[in-house]
Amino acid sequence: MPLPANFHWGVSTSAYQIEGGRTDGKGDSIWDTMSDLGELPDRGDVTCDHYHRWEEDVALMAELGIDSYRFSLAWTRLLPEGNGPVNQKGIDFYGRLIDSLLEHGITPWVTLFHWDLPQALQNRGGWPVRETAEAFAEYAGIVGEAFGDRVKNWITHNEPWVAMVLGHIEGTFAPGLKDWNLALRAGHYILLSHGWAVEKLRSSSPGSSIGIALDCRPSLPATDRAEDVAANRHFDGFRNRWFFDPVFGDGYPADIVETYQARGRLPSLEFIAQGDLDAIAAPIDFLGLNYYTSIVISAGGDESEETGVSPGPHPPEGYTEMGWALTPEAFTHFLRRVEEDYSPATIVVTENGASYSDGPDSEGRIADQRRIEYLAAHIRAVEEAVTARVPVSGYFVWSLLDNLEWTSGFSQRFGLVYVDHATGTRTPKDSFDWYRSLILRMRVG
Ligand code: FCB
Repeated sequence: MPLPANFHWGVSTSAYQIEGGRTDGKGDSIWDTMSDLGELPDRGDVTCDHYHRWEEDVALMAELGIDSYRFSLAWTRLLPEGNGPVNQKGIDFYGRLIDSLLEHGITPWVTLFHWDLPQALQNRGGWPVRETAEAFAEYAGIVGEAFGDRVKNWITHNEPWVAMVLGHIEGTFAPGLKDWNLALRAGHYILLSHGWAVEKLRSSSPGSSIGIALDCRPSLPATDRAEDVAANRHFDGFRNRWFFDPVFGDGYPADIVETYQARGRLPSLEFIAQGDLDAIAAPIDFLGLNYYTSIVISAGGDESEETGVSPGPHPPEGYTEMGWALTPEAFTHFLRRVEEDYSPATIVVTENGASYSDGPDSEGRIADQRRIEYLAAHIRAVEEAVTARVPVSGYFVWSLLDNLEWTSGFSQRFGLVYVDHATGTRTPKDSFDWYRSLILRMRVG
């Protein structure tokens, strides 16, 4: 087995998707607003009620045998207005969770932003304004001071592409805007705030390891016709390089800047101030990589993921219930590419998992064999990358619990643990037992 005995095995969650607990001084986030407006199929007010049931969830994690747990802080639980007064009850909640994880031998990996921007900051312009990046840096300093003695693994942002594109171009995700100009600014200030947060955490949480979790959509052209090859190159720039390049010091990809300008999407780059690109390129200790699927691209439909599903000459092995193609080999390939193009110090797979809605049978057992197969194939894909000398040092399953899958609500189930959303009852699935055995085997070597 190429994976070393000290490889990190974990699970990932995010605050809005599991916590509920809209109480104890928590401010509203843009997702609370979206839920209040009735724009989500299920509301986030309770979801898995992790805010009240966290001890049960830590016990499940201990039983699972993971050594690492990635979760996100709800910014509005700590700073209800986004900046300014701190909510002590929020600090206490995460403090208790962190202490309990450590007592159970589980290392916390803390994400600062998993899309739940304080509504108060949205009201002042949201990510398209520079002040939001400043507020994020202030928030990073505060959480570093509060938890930096116990938390040694930090992730600034989760999937900036999603916040920028789904939130500000497609408008399907909060804050529901459809404006290229705002989106490009939002993406920039998210990245800038990442760089500033890295610096804040370096001083407030000395000796810790700091990274960002980028999502990716590896893509292939549908045919080798020049139009498809060009469309694929553009899609890769729009979807992947726009974030990877600046984080690793290469600035925004020139071919995409040029195309955006030609299409009138980027009338000027005046919002990029002197020094911003250097700030964004602040050295990080690891790259968090979230991988689910890949895509095939044909000419005519670039900048949309919808057009890429035609299997073309690259048929997937099947699809998960999100409609995402099963393409584990593209994962190995992308890991190798990241190593070649960006040489991160190390890569941690901060999310990987599958949505299948298998529920309890008459005996109450949840036989989610398809999830086991998905995870096994993707862990093998990581092993192949490691064999090819890609420095991957951890793997986190998305997710511990069936949770609120954003605009899909409870209909998409990603958990190793089944959650009955009417009662909150948790039941480990077969994949939970499978992952526990795998971790045990891997540790023995
Ligand atoms: C990722 C998100 C995570 C979850 C999974 C399925 O894009 O980071 O919150 O929704 O997809």
